[in-house]
Amino acid sequence: MKLRTVSRRSIFVGVGATLAAGILLGAAIVASGVYNVAASVEHFRVTNLVLEFALRRSVDFHSRDVVVPDGLDDPDMVRLGARHFASGCAICHEAPGGSRLPVTGGMYPPPPPLDDAAAKWEDRHLSWIVRHGLKFTGMPQWPGEGRDDEVWPLVAFLNALPDMSPADYRQAASLQPAERPGEASVDCRSCHGDASRPPVSDLVPPLHGQSEAYLLRALAEYAEDRRQSGMMEPIAAGLSSETAATLAREFAAAPRPPVRLYGEAADPSSLARGEEIARLGLRERNVAACLSCHSGTRSPHYPRLEGLSEAYIRQQLTLFRDGKRQASSHGRLMTAIAKRLEDDELADVAAFLASAEAYGGPADTSASR
Ligand code: HEC
Ligand code: HEC
Ligand code: HEC
Repeated sequence: MKLRTVSRRSIFVGVGATLAAGILLGAAIVASGVYNVAASVEHFRVTNLVLEFALRRSVDFHSRDVVVPDGLDDPDMVRLGARHFASGCAICHEAPGGSRLPVTGGMYPPPPPLDDAAAKWEDRHLSWIVRHGLKFTGMPQWPGEGRDDEVWPLVAFLNALPDMSPADYRQAASLQPAERPGEASVDCRSCHGDASRPPVSDLVPPLHGQSEAYLLRALAEYAEDRRQSGMMEPIAAGLSSETAATLAREFAAAPRPPVRLYGEAADPSSLARGEEIARLGLRERNVAACLSCHSGTRSPHYPRLEGLSEAYIRQQLTLFRDGKRQASSHGRLMTAIAKRLEDDELADVAAFLASAEAYGGPADTSASR
Protein backbone atom coordinates (compact mmCIF):
# COMPACT_ATOMS: atom_id res chain seq x y z
CA MET A 1 0.00 0.00 0.00
CA LYS A 2 2.74 2.42 1.09
CA LEU A 3 4.96 1.49 -1.85
CA ARG A 4 2.16 2.27 -4.32
CA THR A 5 1.67 5.79 -2.84
CA VAL A 6 5.36 6.54 -3.11
CA SER A 7 5.63 5.40 -6.72
CA ARG A 8 2.52 7.35 -7.69
CA ARG A 9 3.92 10.48 -6.10
CA SER A 10 7.22 10.07 -7.87
CA ILE A 11 5.40 9.74 -11.21
CA PHE A 12 3.63 13.04 -10.52
CA VAL A 13 6.88 14.72 -9.62
CA GLY A 14 8.61 13.35 -12.73
CA VAL A 15 5.82 14.46 -15.09
CA GLY A 16 5.61 17.87 -13.41
CA ALA A 17 9.35 18.41 -13.69
CA THR A 18 9.37 17.43 -17.38
CA LEU A 19 6.47 19.78 -18.12
CA ALA A 20 8.10 22.64 -16.25
CA ALA A 21 11.36 22.04 -18.12
CA GLY A 22 9.45 22.03 -21.43
CA ILE A 23 7.70 25.29 -20.60
CA LEU A 24 11.00 26.87 -19.52
CA LEU A 25 12.72 25.72 -22.70
CA GLY A 26 9.84 27.08 -24.83
CA ALA A 27 9.94 30.39 -22.95
CA ALA A 28 13.73 30.55 -23.41
CA ILE A 29 13.41 29.97 -27.19
CA VAL A 30 10.67 32.64 -27.46
CA ALA A 31 12.57 35.13 -25.28
CA SER A 32 15.88 34.57 -27.08
CA GLY A 33 14.30 35.56 -30.42
CA VAL A 34 15.93 32.70 -32.36
CA TYR A 35 12.60 31.46 -33.76
CA ASN A 36 12.43 33.14 -37.16
CA VAL A 37 9.16 34.99 -37.92
CA ALA A 38 10.32 36.01 -41.43
CA ALA A 39 7.70 35.29 -44.11
CA SER A 40 10.63 34.19 -46.31
CA VAL A 41 11.50 31.27 -44.00
CA GLU A 42 9.14 28.32 -43.67
CA HIS A 43 7.91 27.02 -40.30
CA PHE A 44 9.40 23.77 -38.97
CA ARG A 45 7.31 20.80 -40.14
CA VAL A 46 6.17 20.14 -36.59
CA THR A 47 5.10 23.80 -36.14
CA ASN A 48 3.03 23.52 -39.33
CA LEU A 49 1.40 20.30 -38.16
CA VAL A 50 0.50 21.82 -34.80
CA LEU A 51 -0.85 25.04 -36.39
CA GLU A 52 -2.90 23.11 -38.95
CA PHE A 53 -4.35 20.87 -36.28
CA ALA A 54 -5.19 23.86 -34.06
CA LEU A 55 -6.82 25.68 -37.01
CA ARG A 56 -9.01 22.71 -37.95
CA ARG A 57 -10.12 22.17 -34.35
CA SER A 58 -10.82 25.86 -33.84
CA VAL A 59 -12.87 26.26 -37.05
CA ASP A 60 -14.83 23.10 -36.27
CA PHE A 61 -15.55 24.18 -32.70
CA HIS A 62 -16.56 27.77 -33.47
CA SER A 63 -18.77 26.90 -36.44
CA ARG A 64 -20.75 24.31 -34.47
CA ASP A 65 -23.97 26.38 -34.39
CA VAL A 66 -23.91 27.58 -38.01
CA VAL A 67 -27.15 26.63 -39.81
CA VAL A 68 -26.57 25.85 -43.49
CA PRO A 69 -29.41 27.22 -45.71
CA ASP A 70 -30.97 25.32 -48.63
CA GLY A 71 -30.28 26.23 -52.22
CA LEU A 72 -26.48 26.40 -52.21
CA ASP A 73 -26.48 24.64 -55.59
CA ASP A 74 -28.67 27.38 -57.10
CA PRO A 75 -26.79 28.85 -60.12
CA ASP A 76 -28.04 32.28 -59.02
CA MET A 77 -26.06 32.02 -55.77
CA VAL A 78 -23.01 30.62 -57.59
CA ARG A 79 -22.99 33.58 -60.04
CA LEU A 80 -23.08 36.20 -57.28
CA GLY A 81 -20.34 34.31 -55.39
CA ALA A 82 -18.21 34.08 -58.54
CA ARG A 83 -18.60 37.77 -59.31
CA HIS A 84 -17.69 38.84 -55.81
CA PHE A 85 -14.80 36.36 -55.77
CA ALA A 86 -13.44 37.95 -58.97
CA SER A 87 -13.17 41.40 -57.42
CA GLY A 88 -12.91 40.63 -53.70
CA CYS A 89 -10.94 37.39 -53.27
CA ALA A 90 -8.99 36.73 -56.50
CA ILE A 91 -6.43 39.38 -55.60
CA CYS A 92 -5.14 36.76 -53.13
CA HIS A 93 -6.60 33.36 -54.15
CA GLU A 94 -5.90 32.24 -57.69
CA ALA A 95 -8.97 32.22 -59.98
CA PRO A 96 -9.46 29.58 -62.72
CA GLY A 97 -7.38 30.60 -65.71
CA GLY A 98 -5.78 33.47 -63.85
CA SER A 99 -2.78 34.26 -61.77
CA ARG A 100 -2.90 36.11 -58.48
CA LEU A 101 -0.87 39.22 -57.78
CA PRO A 102 2.86 38.40 -57.30
CA VAL A 103 2.92 40.18 -53.92
CA THR A 104 0.38 37.80 -52.38
CA GLY A 105 2.58 34.84 -53.40
CA GLY A 106 5.11 36.30 -50.95
CA MET A 107 2.68 36.03 -48.02
CA TYR A 108 3.27 33.30 -45.47
CA PRO A 109 1.17 31.25 -45.29
CA PRO A 110 0.43 31.98 -48.97
CA PRO A 111 -3.29 32.24 -49.86
CA PRO A 112 -3.96 28.71 -51.20
CA PRO A 113 -5.86 27.95 -54.42
CA LEU A 114 -9.42 27.17 -53.31
CA ASP A 115 -10.38 24.41 -55.75
CA ASP A 116 -10.05 21.79 -53.03
CA ALA A 117 -11.48 23.91 -50.18
CA ALA A 118 -14.93 22.31 -50.51
CA ALA A 119 -13.33 18.85 -50.21
CA LYS A 120 -11.32 19.85 -47.14
CA TRP A 121 -14.07 21.71 -45.31
CA GLU A 122 -17.82 21.34 -44.73
CA ASP A 123 -20.20 24.17 -45.71
CA ARG A 124 -20.47 25.46 -42.15
CA HIS A 125 -16.67 25.59 -41.87
CA LEU A 126 -16.33 27.50 -45.15
CA SER A 127 -18.99 30.05 -44.19
CA TRP A 128 -17.28 30.56 -40.84
CA ILE A 129 -13.84 31.06 -42.42
CA VAL A 130 -15.19 33.57 -44.97
CA ARG A 131 -17.23 35.37 -42.31
CA HIS A 132 -14.53 35.59 -39.61
CA GLY A 133 -11.18 35.29 -41.41
CA LEU A 134 -8.15 33.51 -39.92
CA LYS A 135 -5.81 35.10 -37.38
CA PHE A 136 -2.07 35.31 -38.23
CA THR A 137 -2.64 34.35 -41.88
CA GLY A 138 -3.79 37.48 -43.73
CA MET A 139 -7.22 35.92 -44.45
CA PRO A 140 -9.52 38.91 -43.70
CA GLN A 141 -12.93 38.81 -42.05
CA TRP A 142 -16.08 39.70 -44.01
CA PRO A 143 -16.48 43.49 -43.95
CA GLY A 144 -20.30 43.66 -43.49
CA GLU A 145 -20.90 43.43 -39.75
CA GLY A 146 -23.78 41.10 -38.86
CA ARG A 147 -24.19 40.03 -42.50
CA ASP A 148 -23.63 36.31 -41.98
CA ASP A 149 -26.25 35.77 -44.71
CA GLU A 150 -24.02 37.41 -47.33
CA VAL A 151 -21.24 34.80 -47.26
CA TRP A 152 -23.44 31.94 -48.55
CA PRO A 153 -23.05 32.87 -52.25
CA LEU A 154 -19.28 32.49 -51.69
CA VAL A 155 -19.79 29.03 -50.18
CA ALA A 156 -22.04 28.13 -53.14
CA PHE A 157 -19.25 29.27 -55.46
CA LEU A 158 -16.55 27.33 -53.58
CA ASN A 159 -18.69 24.19 -53.91
CA ALA A 160 -19.04 24.71 -57.67
CA LEU A 161 -15.39 25.68 -58.22
CA PRO A 162 -13.81 22.19 -58.57
CA ASP A 163 -15.93 21.51 -61.68
CA MET A 164 -15.41 24.92 -63.29
CA SER A 165 -13.25 25.41 -66.36
CA PRO A 166 -11.76 28.88 -66.87
CA ALA A 167 -14.51 29.50 -69.47
CA ASP A 168 -17.26 28.45 -66.99
CA TYR A 169 -15.74 30.82 -64.45
CA ARG A 170 -15.63 33.75 -66.88
CA GLN A 171 -19.27 33.16 -67.67
CA ALA A 172 -20.41 32.70 -64.06
CA ALA A 173 -18.59 35.84 -62.94
CA SER A 174 -19.80 37.68 -66.10
CA LEU A 175 -16.24 38.83 -66.80
CA GLN A 176 -15.96 41.18 -69.76
CA PRO A 177 -13.39 40.35 -72.49
CA ALA A 178 -10.99 43.00 -71.13
CA GLU A 179 -11.13 41.72 -67.55
CA ARG A 180 -8.40 39.33 -66.39
CA PRO A 181 -9.70 36.54 -64.13
CA GLY A 182 -7.82 37.80 -61.08
CA GLU A 183 -8.33 41.51 -61.65
CA ALA A 184 -12.01 42.07 -62.24
CA SER A 185 -13.22 45.64 -62.00
CA VAL A 186 -16.06 46.72 -59.76
CA ASP A 187 -18.10 47.68 -62.82
CA CYS A 188 -21.54 48.26 -61.31
CA ARG A 189 -23.36 46.71 -64.26
CA SER A 190 -21.54 43.40 -63.89
CA CYS A 191 -23.66 42.84 -60.76
CA HIS A 192 -26.58 45.24 -61.07
CA GLY A 193 -27.30 44.61 -64.76
CA ASP A 194 -28.56 47.25 -67.15
CA ALA A 195 -31.61 47.98 -69.26
CA SER A 196 -31.08 44.81 -71.32
CA ARG A 197 -29.56 42.49 -68.72
CA PRO A 198 -31.03 41.62 -65.31
CA PRO A 199 -28.78 41.68 -62.22
CA VAL A 200 -26.33 38.78 -61.82
CA SER A 201 -28.43 37.36 -58.97
CA ASP A 202 -31.84 37.80 -57.36
CA LEU A 203 -30.00 39.09 -54.29
CA VAL A 204 -28.75 42.13 -56.22
CA PRO A 205 -31.25 44.98 -56.73
CA PRO A 206 -31.47 46.74 -60.10
CA LEU A 207 -30.39 50.41 -59.85
CA HIS A 208 -31.89 51.65 -63.10
CA GLY A 209 -34.72 54.10 -62.65
CA GLN A 210 -34.28 54.17 -58.86
CA SER A 211 -34.54 57.58 -57.23
CA GLU A 212 -31.29 59.57 -57.37
CA ALA A 213 -31.57 60.80 -53.77
CA TYR A 214 -32.06 57.24 -52.53
CA LEU A 215 -29.11 55.86 -54.54
CA LEU A 216 -26.82 58.61 -53.34
CA ARG A 217 -27.85 58.12 -49.72
CA ALA A 218 -27.41 54.34 -49.97
CA LEU A 219 -23.88 54.76 -51.37
CA ALA A 220 -22.99 57.24 -48.61
CA GLU A 221 -24.36 54.90 -45.93
CA TYR A 222 -22.29 51.96 -47.23
CA ALA A 223 -19.17 54.13 -47.46
CA GLU A 224 -19.64 55.41 -43.90
CA ASP A 225 -20.27 51.90 -42.50
CA ARG A 226 -23.85 52.86 -41.60
CA ARG A 227 -25.46 50.29 -43.91
CA GLN A 228 -23.81 46.90 -43.65
CA SER A 229 -22.84 44.84 -46.71
CA GLY A 230 -19.52 43.08 -47.26
CA MET A 231 -20.15 43.32 -51.00
CA MET A 232 -21.08 47.01 -51.24
CA GLU A 233 -19.11 48.67 -48.43
CA PRO A 234 -15.64 48.24 -49.96
CA ILE A 235 -16.97 49.30 -53.39
CA ALA A 236 -18.76 52.41 -52.08
CA ALA A 237 -15.79 53.37 -49.91
CA GLY A 238 -13.63 53.41 -53.05
CA LEU A 239 -15.82 55.92 -54.93
CA SER A 240 -15.04 59.64 -54.84
CA SER A 241 -18.07 61.79 -54.04
CA GLU A 242 -18.07 63.09 -57.64
CA THR A 243 -18.11 59.56 -59.07
CA ALA A 244 -20.88 58.52 -56.67
CA ALA A 245 -22.94 61.56 -57.69
CA THR A 246 -22.43 60.85 -61.41
CA LEU A 247 -23.34 57.17 -61.03
CA ALA A 248 -26.48 57.97 -59.00
CA ARG A 249 -27.57 60.51 -61.62
CA GLU A 250 -26.93 58.14 -64.54
CA PHE A 251 -28.65 55.17 -62.95
CA ALA A 252 -31.65 57.27 -61.91
CA ALA A 253 -32.07 58.60 -65.45
CA ALA A 254 -31.88 55.16 -67.09
CA PRO A 255 -35.12 53.33 -67.84
CA ARG A 256 -36.25 50.85 -65.17
CA PRO A 257 -35.78 47.31 -66.48
CA PRO A 258 -39.08 45.64 -67.34
CA VAL A 259 -40.86 44.31 -64.27
CA ARG A 260 -40.68 40.57 -64.29
CA LEU A 261 -41.92 37.81 -62.09
CA TYR A 262 -38.86 36.31 -60.46
CA GLY A 263 -38.47 32.66 -59.62
CA GLU A 264 -41.39 30.29 -59.56
CA ALA A 265 -44.89 31.73 -59.79
CA ALA A 266 -46.04 32.33 -56.23
CA ASP A 267 -48.99 30.55 -54.68
CA PRO A 268 -52.20 32.59 -55.48
CA SER A 269 -53.47 32.69 -51.89
CA SER A 270 -50.12 33.99 -50.67
CA LEU A 271 -50.23 36.65 -53.41
CA ALA A 272 -53.74 37.67 -52.35
CA ARG A 273 -52.73 38.06 -48.71
CA GLY A 274 -49.62 39.97 -49.78
CA GLU A 275 -51.72 42.26 -51.99
CA GLU A 276 -53.93 43.22 -49.08
CA ILE A 277 -50.95 44.26 -46.94
CA ALA A 278 -49.29 46.11 -49.82
CA ARG A 279 -52.42 48.04 -50.85
CA LEU A 280 -54.31 48.42 -47.55
CA GLY A 281 -51.82 47.74 -44.78
CA LEU A 282 -52.65 46.04 -41.48
CA ARG A 283 -54.86 48.50 -39.67
CA GLU A 284 -55.02 46.53 -36.40
CA ARG A 285 -51.24 46.62 -36.13
CA ASN A 286 -50.76 50.14 -37.40
CA VAL A 287 -48.93 49.12 -40.59
CA ALA A 288 -49.58 51.61 -43.40
CA ALA A 289 -50.05 50.30 -46.94
CA CYS A 290 -46.61 49.61 -48.38
CA LEU A 291 -47.53 51.13 -51.72
CA SER A 292 -48.68 54.36 -50.09
CA CYS A 293 -45.00 55.11 -49.49
CA HIS A 294 -43.40 53.00 -52.23
CA SER A 295 -45.29 54.32 -55.23
CA GLY A 296 -42.26 56.37 -56.32
CA THR A 297 -44.00 59.72 -55.68
CA ARG A 298 -44.22 60.05 -51.88
CA SER A 299 -40.59 61.06 -51.27
CA PRO A 300 -37.36 60.69 -53.26
CA HIS A 301 -35.94 58.92 -50.19
CA TYR A 302 -38.56 56.15 -50.37
CA PRO A 303 -37.18 53.62 -52.86
CA ARG A 304 -39.16 52.19 -55.73
CA LEU A 305 -39.69 48.48 -55.30
CA GLU A 306 -40.58 47.56 -58.91
CA GLY A 307 -38.17 45.04 -60.31
CA LEU A 308 -36.83 43.89 -56.93
CA SER A 309 -36.91 40.11 -56.55
CA GLU A 310 -38.83 38.26 -53.90
CA ALA A 311 -35.54 37.01 -52.41
CA TYR A 312 -34.11 40.54 -52.12
CA ILE A 313 -37.31 42.03 -50.63
CA ARG A 314 -37.50 39.18 -48.10
CA GLN A 315 -33.81 39.55 -47.23
CA GLN A 316 -34.04 43.33 -46.69
CA LEU A 317 -37.27 43.08 -44.66
CA THR A 318 -35.53 40.50 -42.46
CA LEU A 319 -32.54 42.83 -42.04
CA PHE A 320 -34.85 45.70 -41.05
CA ARG A 321 -36.72 43.43 -38.65
CA ASP A 322 -33.51 42.18 -37.03
CA GLY A 323 -32.38 45.78 -36.49
CA LYS A 324 -29.50 45.46 -38.98
CA ARG A 325 -30.49 48.34 -41.24
CA GLN A 326 -31.50 51.17 -38.98
CA ALA A 327 -28.59 53.60 -38.78
CA SER A 328 -30.60 56.28 -40.64
CA SER A 329 -33.99 57.76 -39.75
CA HIS A 330 -35.30 56.19 -42.99
CA GLY A 331 -34.02 52.80 -41.94
CA ARG A 332 -35.66 53.18 -38.52
CA LEU A 333 -38.98 54.01 -40.17
CA MET A 334 -38.89 50.73 -42.12
CA THR A 335 -37.61 48.83 -39.08
CA ALA A 336 -40.69 49.81 -37.08
CA ILE A 337 -42.89 48.53 -39.92
CA ALA A 338 -41.01 45.27 -40.51
CA LYS A 339 -41.07 44.40 -36.80
CA ARG A 340 -44.89 44.32 -36.96
CA LEU A 341 -44.96 41.64 -39.67
CA GLU A 342 -45.21 37.93 -38.87
CA ASP A 343 -42.98 35.53 -40.85
CA ASP A 344 -45.74 34.44 -43.22
CA GLU A 345 -46.93 38.02 -43.78
CA LEU A 346 -43.39 39.05 -44.63
CA ALA A 347 -43.13 36.22 -47.19
CA ASP A 348 -46.60 36.97 -48.67
CA VAL A 349 -45.97 40.69 -49.12
CA ALA A 350 -42.53 40.01 -50.64
CA ALA A 351 -44.10 37.59 -53.14
CA PHE A 352 -46.72 40.14 -54.12
CA LEU A 353 -44.36 43.12 -54.36
CA ALA A 354 -42.04 41.09 -56.61
CA SER A 355 -44.89 40.33 -58.98
CA ALA A 356 -45.84 42.55 -61.87
CA GLU A 357 -49.44 42.82 -60.66
CA ALA A 358 -48.29 45.09 -57.85
CA TYR A 359 -47.52 47.82 -60.35
CA GLY A 360 -50.32 47.19 -62.81
CA GLY A 361 -47.96 46.08 -65.59
CA PRO A 362 -47.98 42.84 -67.53
CA ALA A 363 -45.45 40.31 -66.31
CA ASP A 364 -42.40 40.19 -68.54
CA THR A 365 -40.75 36.84 -68.02
CA SER A 366 -38.73 37.05 -71.22
CA ALA A 367 -35.68 38.72 -69.70
CA SER A 368 -33.07 36.08 -69.01
CA ARG A 369 -29.49 36.04 -67.88
C1 HEC B 1 -5.41 39.50 -48.38
C2 HEC B 1 -5.44 38.19 -48.95
C3 HEC B 1 -6.72 37.39 -48.86
C4 HEC B 1 -7.98 37.74 -49.31
C5 HEC B 1 -8.43 39.07 -49.93
C6 HEC B 1 -8.82 36.58 -49.10
N1 HEC B 1 -8.10 35.56 -48.53
FE1 HEC B 1 -8.80 33.69 -48.08
N2 HEC B 1 -7.01 33.20 -47.28
C7 HEC B 1 -5.89 34.00 -47.28
C8 HEC B 1 -4.78 33.30 -46.67
C9 HEC B 1 -3.39 33.81 -46.47
C10 HEC B 1 -5.28 32.01 -46.31
C11 HEC B 1 -4.45 30.85 -45.78
C12 HEC B 1 -4.69 30.42 -44.42
C13 HEC B 1 -3.82 29.22 -44.07
O1 HEC B 1 -3.09 28.68 -44.91
O2 HEC B 1 -3.92 28.83 -42.93
C14 HEC B 1 -6.69 32.00 -46.70
C15 HEC B 1 -7.54 30.91 -46.50
C16 HEC B 1 -8.82 30.81 -47.02
C17 HEC B 1 -9.66 29.64 -46.95
C18 HEC B 1 -9.26 28.28 -46.33
C19 HEC B 1 -8.58 27.50 -47.42
C20 HEC B 1 -8.03 26.14 -47.06
O3 HEC B 1 -7.63 25.44 -48.00
O4 HEC B 1 -7.99 25.78 -45.88
C21 HEC B 1 -10.82 29.94 -47.60
C22 HEC B 1 -12.02 29.02 -47.82
C23 HEC B 1 -10.71 31.31 -48.07
N3 HEC B 1 -9.49 31.82 -47.69
C24 HEC B 1 -11.70 31.97 -48.79
C25 HEC B 1 -11.63 33.31 -49.16
C26 HEC B 1 -12.70 34.03 -49.82
C27 HEC B 1 -14.03 33.43 -50.24
C28 HEC B 1 -12.28 35.32 -49.98
C29 HEC B 1 -13.05 36.50 -50.54
C30 HEC B 1 -14.30 36.83 -49.87
C31 HEC B 1 -10.93 35.40 -49.44
N4 HEC B 1 -10.57 34.15 -48.96
C32 HEC B 1 -10.16 36.55 -49.45
C33 HEC B 1 -5.79 35.28 -47.80
C34 HEC B 1 -6.82 36.02 -48.36
C1 HEC C 1 -20.15 42.00 -56.64
C2 HEC C 1 -21.45 42.51 -57.01
C3 HEC C 1 -21.70 44.02 -56.93
C4 HEC C 1 -21.03 45.04 -57.59
C5 HEC C 1 -19.83 44.91 -58.51
C6 HEC C 1 -21.72 46.26 -57.24
N1 HEC C 1 -22.76 45.99 -56.39
FE1 HEC C 1 -24.07 47.38 -55.59
N2 HEC C 1 -25.03 45.86 -54.58
C7 HEC C 1 -24.65 44.53 -54.57
C8 HEC C 1 -25.45 43.82 -53.59
C9 HEC C 1 -25.34 42.33 -53.26
C10 HEC C 1 -26.34 44.77 -53.02
C11 HEC C 1 -27.33 44.54 -51.87
C12 HEC C 1 -26.54 44.81 -50.59
C13 HEC C 1 -27.34 44.88 -49.31
O1 HEC C 1 -27.84 43.85 -48.86
O2 HEC C 1 -27.43 45.99 -48.74
C14 HEC C 1 -26.05 46.04 -53.67
C15 HEC C 1 -26.71 47.23 -53.37
C16 HEC C 1 -26.43 48.47 -53.95
C17 HEC C 1 -27.17 49.70 -53.69
C18 HEC C 1 -28.41 49.83 -52.81
C19 HEC C 1 -29.63 49.63 -53.70
C20 HEC C 1 -30.93 49.52 -52.96
O3 HEC C 1 -31.94 49.25 -53.63
O4 HEC C 1 -30.97 49.69 -51.74
C21 HEC C 1 -26.57 50.69 -54.43
C22 HEC C 1 -26.96 52.14 -54.50
C23 HEC C 1 -25.46 50.07 -55.15
N3 HEC C 1 -25.40 48.72 -54.84
C24 HEC C 1 -24.61 50.74 -56.03
C25 HEC C 1 -23.55 50.16 -56.70
C26 HEC C 1 -22.64 50.91 -57.56
C27 HEC C 1 -22.74 52.40 -57.85
C28 HEC C 1 -21.70 50.01 -58.02
C29 HEC C 1 -20.51 50.27 -58.93
C30 HEC C 1 -19.58 51.30 -58.49
C31 HEC C 1 -22.05 48.71 -57.46
N4 HEC C 1 -23.17 48.84 -56.68
C32 HEC C 1 -21.36 47.52 -57.73
C33 HEC C 1 -23.68 43.95 -55.37
C34 HEC C 1 -22.78 44.65 -56.18
C1 HEC D 1 -44.07 55.39 -44.11
C2 HEC D 1 -43.47 55.03 -45.36
C3 HEC D 1 -43.20 53.56 -45.63
C4 HEC D 1 -44.09 52.50 -45.57
C5 HEC D 1 -45.55 52.50 -45.16
C6 HEC D 1 -43.35 51.33 -46.00
N1 HEC D 1 -42.06 51.67 -46.30
FE1 HEC D 1 -40.62 50.42 -47.01
N2 HEC D 1 -39.24 51.91 -46.98
C7 HEC D 1 -39.50 53.20 -46.55
C8 HEC D 1 -38.24 53.94 -46.53
C9 HEC D 1 -38.06 55.39 -46.11
C10 HEC D 1 -37.24 53.04 -46.97
C11 HEC D 1 -35.74 53.32 -47.11
C12 HEC D 1 -35.01 52.79 -45.88
C13 HEC D 1 -33.52 52.99 -45.94
O1 HEC D 1 -33.06 53.84 -46.68
O2 HEC D 1 -32.82 52.23 -45.24
C14 HEC D 1 -37.90 51.78 -47.25
C15 HEC D 1 -37.23 50.67 -47.74
C16 HEC D 1 -37.88 49.48 -48.06
C17 HEC D 1 -37.24 48.34 -48.71
C18 HEC D 1 -35.77 48.24 -49.16
C19 HEC D 1 -35.67 48.55 -50.62
C20 HEC D 1 -34.27 48.47 -51.18
O3 HEC D 1 -34.09 48.79 -52.37
O4 HEC D 1 -33.34 48.07 -50.46
C21 HEC D 1 -38.19 47.35 -48.81
C22 HEC D 1 -37.99 45.97 -49.42
C23 HEC D 1 -39.41 47.88 -48.26
N3 HEC D 1 -39.21 49.17 -47.82
C24 HEC D 1 -40.61 47.17 -48.20
C25 HEC D 1 -41.78 47.65 -47.58
C26 HEC D 1 -42.95 46.84 -47.33
C27 HEC D 1 -43.08 45.37 -47.69
C28 HEC D 1 -43.86 47.63 -46.72
C29 HEC D 1 -45.24 47.29 -46.23
C30 HEC D 1 -45.33 46.21 -45.28
C31 HEC D 1 -43.26 48.96 -46.61
N4 HEC D 1 -41.99 48.92 -47.12
C32 HEC D 1 -43.89 50.06 -46.06
C33 HEC D 1 -40.74 53.74 -46.25
C34 HEC D 1 -41.91 53.01 -46.08
